[in-house]
Amino acid sequence: MVQQSGVIITGSGSATPATVLNNQSFSQLVDTSDEWIRSRTGIGSRRLATTAESLSSIASAAGREAIAMAGITPAEIDLILLATSSADDLFGSACQVQARLGASNAVAFDLTAACSGFVFGMVTAAQYIRTGVYQNVLLIGADVLSRWVDWEDRRTCVLFGDGAGAVVMQADKRDRLLGFELKSDGTENHCLNLSYQGKPKQLMDGVEVTQGTYQPITMNGKEVYRFAVQRVPEVIDKALFRANLTVDNIDWLLLHQANQRILDAVADRLKIPARKVISNLAHYGNTSAASIPLALDEAVRQGQVQPNHIIAASGFGAGLTWGAAIFQWK
Ligand code: ACO
Repeated sequence: MVQQSGVIITGSGSATPATVLNNQSFSQLVDTSDEWIRSRTGIGSRRLATTAESLSSIASAAGREAIAMAGITPAEIDLILLATSSADDLFGSACQVQARLGASNAVAFDLTAACSGFVFGMVTAAQYIRTGVYQNVLLIGADVLSRWVDWEDRRTCVLFGDGAGAVVMQADKRDRLLGFELKSDGTENHCLNLSYQGKPKQLMDGVEVTQGTYQPITMNGKEVYRFAVQRVPEVIDKALFRANLTVDNIDWLLLHQANQRILDAVADRLKIPARKVISNLAHYGNTSAASIPLALDEAVRQGQVQPNHIIAASGFGAGLTWGAAIFQWK
């Protein structure tokens, strides 16, 4: 019989590439303007990984910071979960991160749930801790979607940026993951894709395989907007219900940083005042699985998020997937 345990988040970290691309520079690439991008999305600039950087390098840098804040050593990590949709290697990048960190006792694997990856990862990590299987988990959300953006498509290329964020989750007497709810709907998969496309290749008579590569991101912006504004408040409400809390108990609303309009609309529907909404997408754009831990880490280091604060985090995106986790910081 395994021992039951609570979950506590003891450290956070983040890392972004040094190269900054501001809205003004986009006019050299596509027919757009700072005014259009800023007013429709709230984004002012984003970071882009150069050829010297990789998903593993920024994920490791974020993980290193989180481990340091938690006050443990890499050798004490039991599990590394890497939430990403843009691994350096389709077989997974978590093991490369494990090697870079010297976390030699950790089992490591990737988890793919697009922009919901961090919230899905947090719930997954909590199950291993609650059942007593692992004590110390490093959860990283990282994406380098600049690799997969169509840089000639103004409807999508202005939205995304690269980055990584991480937390350390540990076993503790009290459980600070207060409630969660996760959802998926594959019937709407076509709204947001980074899909594989191949051509038939005949190996011999009667044996044909497919060979190709992944195609740049395609998105139905209006459908994704509608989906987010409707589903995210619902899933936060459900997670709050499971936590036996109401919106009045929330200190911070921490949404996937997709678009300021989505953040505003969700907060409005939940009747959460703007001062409680964490937003950093003006500087980083949409960093997919990285956006929640990146914004969390900034808010922690700037002293906004304090011990015992209650955070309602929600991720949403391709799949379609969406989910919410209500947790107490430290
Ligand atoms: N610059 C200038 N004009 C543009 C740009 C741009 N970057 N992008 C689109 N336009 C034009 C279009 O071509 C179109 O022009 P047309 O009418 O002459 O054809 C016009 O602006 C309106 O285009 P829409 O796509 O209808 O623009 P919309 O007002 O819906 O805004 C946006 C687009 C911001 C993406 C919006 O749909 C949205 O917020 N969607 C939410 C999805 C989202 O945030 N996704 C992020 C990734 S997914 C995720 O993380 C969950």
